Amino acid sequence: MRCLRLLLALGLLPPLARAEGGRLRENFDFGWRFLRGDAAGAEALSYPDGGWRRLDLPHDWSIEGPYDAAAPSGGPGGYLPTGVGWYRKHFEAPAAQAGRRIEIQFDGVYRDSEVWLNGHLLGRWPYGYTTFRYDLTPYLVFGGPNVIAVRVDNSRQPGSRWYSGSGIDRNVWLTASDPLRIAPEGVTVVTRSATADAATLEVRTRVRNGRGEAAEVRVSQRLEGALEEEPAALRLEAGAEAEVTSVLTLPHPRLWSPEHPALYRLRTDIGTDAVETSVGVRAIAYDAERGFLLNGRPVKLLGMCLHQDGGAVGSAVPEAVWERRLRLLQAMGCNAIRTSHNPPDPALLELCDRLGFLVMDEAFDEWTVRKPQIKFGYSAFFPEWHQRDLEAMIRRDRNHPSVVMWSAGNEIGEQWSPRGPAILRELVETFHREDPTRPVTAAMDRVFTDAGRAPAAFTGLLDIVGYNYVDRWLDRRETYFGPDHAAFPERRMVGTEDASAPAVRGEYPERAAPAGTPPRPLYLSAPVRTEQLWKFALTHAYVIGHFMWTGFDYLGESRWPAKASSSGALDTCGFPKDTYYLYQSIFSPRPMLHLLPHWTWPGREGKVVPVLAYTNCEVVELFLNGRSLGAKAREFPRPGTQGGWNTYARPPVFPTTADLHLEWDVPYEAGELKAVGYRGGAVACTETVRTAGVPAALEIVPDRTALRADARDAASLEVRVVDAQGTVVPGASNRVSFSVEGPAVLLGVDNGDPQSHEPYQAGRRDAFHGLCLAVIQTRREAGPIRVTARADGLREAAAELASAPAPEAPALFGALP
Ligand code: GAL
Repeated sequence: MRCLRLLLALGLLPPLARAEGGRLRENFDFGWRFLRGDAAGAEALSYPDGGWRRLDLPHDWSIEGPYDAAAPSGGPGGYLPTGVGWYRKHFEAPAAQAGRRIEIQFDGVYRDSEVWLNGHLLGRWPYGYTTFRYDLTPYLVFGGPNVIAVRVDNSRQPGSRWYSGSGIDRNVWLTASDPLRIAPEGVTVVTRSATADAATLEVRTRVRNGRGEAAEVRVSQRLEGALEEEPAALRLEAGAEAEVTSVLTLPHPRLWSPEHPALYRLRTDIGTDAVETSVGVRAIAYDAERGFLLNGRPVKLLGMCLHQDGGAVGSAVPEAVWERRLRLLQAMGCNAIRTSHNPPDPALLELCDRLGFLVMDEAFDEWTVRKPQIKFGYSAFFPEWHQRDLEAMIRRDRNHPSVVMWSAGNEIGEQWSPRGPAILRELVETFHREDPTRPVTAAMDRVFTDAGRAPAAFTGLLDIVGYNYVDRWLDRRETYFGPDHAAFPERRMVGTEDASAPAVRGEYPERAAPAGTPPRPLYLSAPVRTEQLWKFALTHAYVIGHFMWTGFDYLGESRWPAKASSSGALDTCGFPKDTYYLYQSIFSPRPMLHLLPHWTWPGREGKVVPVLAYTNCEVVELFLNGRSLGAKAREFPRPGTQGGWNTYARPPVFPTTADLHLEWDVPYEAGELKAVGYRGGAVACTETVRTAGVPAALEIVPDRTALRADARDAASLEVRVVDAQGTVVPGASNRVSFSVEGPAVLLGVDNGDPQSHEPYQAGRRDAFHGLCLAVIQTRREAGPIRVTARADGLREAAAELASAPAPEAPALFGALP
């Protein structure tokens, strides 16, 4: 590679990328130097950075810790450090690239970054969640060394209501192209119509002529299976920019949907430049009576809100960590994500396209009104920056088939203020101008209050009214969207946010009861609200869906000693809580059955332990040590909801509850609790929980074993503390240490305990309720990887993984040592 670069630098070889339509796009994440703190003059070419730390991006310095109850980020930021940091990268620009246009793109830097090339300031970009780029061409030294320097300022705290991370925590890209080129994000694909028979796609291509003379340009579009179009032609004067529209017809398209997330690749070629765009062909519509329609079919949004951190890895989340998380949500039956409360990492949207999630892409948590918890939120930037940020978000994300709706903001302070409608109008106009195909909502927590309905001047501007906590006001706790649906029959409505059943994984606290009666476990009441909410949503077609707060526990928004919020269906490790199975029983058609709590209660012998089953089976029979405790059934939906009038069959077991869970009061005795679920009279699934003995061994289970040796790919390994029979020991908190042999590094460890102040970047972790997690990342060398987990007095466990050679990505602008 070194030799190849030399030949290229000397101009002795045609650059590889030019054969590919002229454009070179390479990743620029590797070989940076980092300083935590400020440094005067560190933008200068000659600044002595030899002592700085070497690292690769994405990088989040906050997650490196330590926790501090007095940290300026406070509870909102998870008591982790923030401050200022510097990044520098020395690189070589090949001489053969001279005369081309070279651009750098940051997918996101948290936050308030300034970027210099060879000492020249390229610009500042405050919002940490939008993508921005700079033209490097004027200051690049071709055939010589260059230095890019980035100052990141996350010092004004508290600056976010949740953990934001700090640093260049998303990918960086470099593009080299002919000056006569397709503009950044210059290809926009819109599905005009799509049925099983044919689809019509409109492709808009924006071309920029950065050459010194006028040019004739032919714009051709190629998409597998589509009928070839005559290339569009245009003439562009020097320095001019113009857009052309092509229309493609695709017979018998593979339509994109959560079940079949089919993607096509579109190649747009103008001769001197070419780009590829991933395309999902789907038709979306929203109906005030029928809700969301995907390819003509009603689909309920079964949604989860997600913040951007990935637990132990902070905000620098490897794609493989996102993929694991999304697959876990998918297995729960979730089909939709709200990117609360900011534009996500584009890598997440690519995954959503590929895996089949429906996304509500949200812009802001503040407009001009500051939220009380946050001194330095986005409101300080909004007046100057919101237009640029919004355009950056829409232009970047509008080609993703997964994105089905925009949100202009979350619980914005202007909902009732006289200034609100004017700001919202401007935002909605920008959304509609940049993307006429998707509706705009806003997550309103004050659609209805003691003072009555939110001003129509505000709600009337929204394509879809978003309700945060629709069940928050008086009778709405029972009637939900009902009164508004009656009052505004044309209104389209979505539950942008609602309360999940927050809990700490593995903990079953009791709630004080009236004097004289024993306290009752919290898990008896936790699901009730969620169940009721979903019963309404599932039986009212016009409710587009709900997004629950939240899919995963997230860092921040906590109170010391907690450093994370416990609102997730899964903890920060991605270990399911009981709530996960509650959602699964509601969302997933696949037969499932989950029992709670665990069955290890020494000292409780003879006392009642209430047992719950989350299930979508019709009937469940529970057994304790082989003795039946009776079969139970729930009634939802009520028989007769589907099928003919009054034609439903007699139930096999008469239901005793309209709750979505079943419950038995079981006098505790050690042993085995087994549940058998029936559908249509046949056993559909079984679930057993056993009393655990003392910890005897560790088990280690990787989420995947075949990795790519690209220094990016990652695996998550779950470690369980088990007894001699292999039952997870619920209370176990053994200290587990990890060792990694082979070409991989330990990226982070976690146990999901929201109160743990152990570092994430360490070689060991205490188990929490019997479990902990290690995340490893590959290096560039291929080879076998062995991860071993050890704990004093327990049998150790090891997992074997393999890292296979990955095709080498182009690196013409290689980092210098
Ligand atoms: C909501 C808010 C979320 C989170 C949540 C905590 O009102 O939109 O960001 O703060 O409350 O319960």
